[in-house]
Amino acid sequence: YQVYYLEKCGSTQDVARELAEKGAPEGVVVVAEEQENGRGRLGRRWFSGRGGLWFTVVLRPKPDALGLLSLGVGVAVGRVLRGLGLSVGLKWPNDVLVDGRKAGGILVEGFTVPGDGIVALVGVGLNVNNELPPGLAEVSVALREVVGARLSRLQLFLKLLREIDNVYLQLIEGRGEVILEEWRRLSVTLGKTVKIITADGEYIGVAVDVGPLGELYIDIGDGIRAFYAGDVVHVR
Ligand code: BTN
Repeated sequence: YQVYYLEKCGSTQDVARELAEKGAPEGVVVVAEEQENGRGRLGRRWFSGRGGLWFTVVLRPKPDALGLLSLGVGVAVGRVLRGLGLSVGLKWPNDVLVDGRKAGGILVEGFTVPGDGIVALVGVGLNVNNELPPGLAEVSVALREVVGARLSRLQLFLKLLREIDNVYLQLIEGRGEVILEEWRRLSVTLGKTVKIITADGEYIGVAVDVGPLGELYIDIGDGIRAFYAGDVVHVR
């Protein structure tokens, strides 16, 4: 891999975007010790202090592999953490939970470069040895707290890159259904009653399945509806 290592940056997503716009090939990775402006889904802020793992991978998928990329990367992170003996759950669309608390998140930003196809910026944030801001300690967790010792971020990083690569290959080879099946097994969302908050309102129902575009199907009482984006709260 071609890895750009930064002591500090605003967001690895922005650095990766600039590189991609200048033609960086697939597989370029930007990793930073610290992000001053890390961002999460839905315009949220992502705390990215020292000791965590914050990186972005540049991919150039065909349009049909884009939809499953974000669930797929969740599966990749899930595989690696399970390999460490941790109990992992994936909350739709891509929160990585360990022992029920959020240890990591994934942000996929896609855009088209005129004449140069689609670029997907796959951002992965994992709380490893970092401190969490006080208000977040209830819902979030760092792996160090769960394991009871500091972890090697370099080893984790290399395992994650390898696994993201494996999943990506499966996706571009048209084996998305295998990835979906693995996501279903790791899911903590399916079967639960959830509230989903979307741009056009809130809905409550039972999460029944995920589909090939990464969409979540919720039985909202008068039928099953597909949701492509939104914020999910587990109600029970
Ligand atoms: C989320 O759960 O909302 C997604 C969080 C994604 C955070 C990562 S850290 C590396 C990359 N750079 C960013 O600014 N965000 C992603």
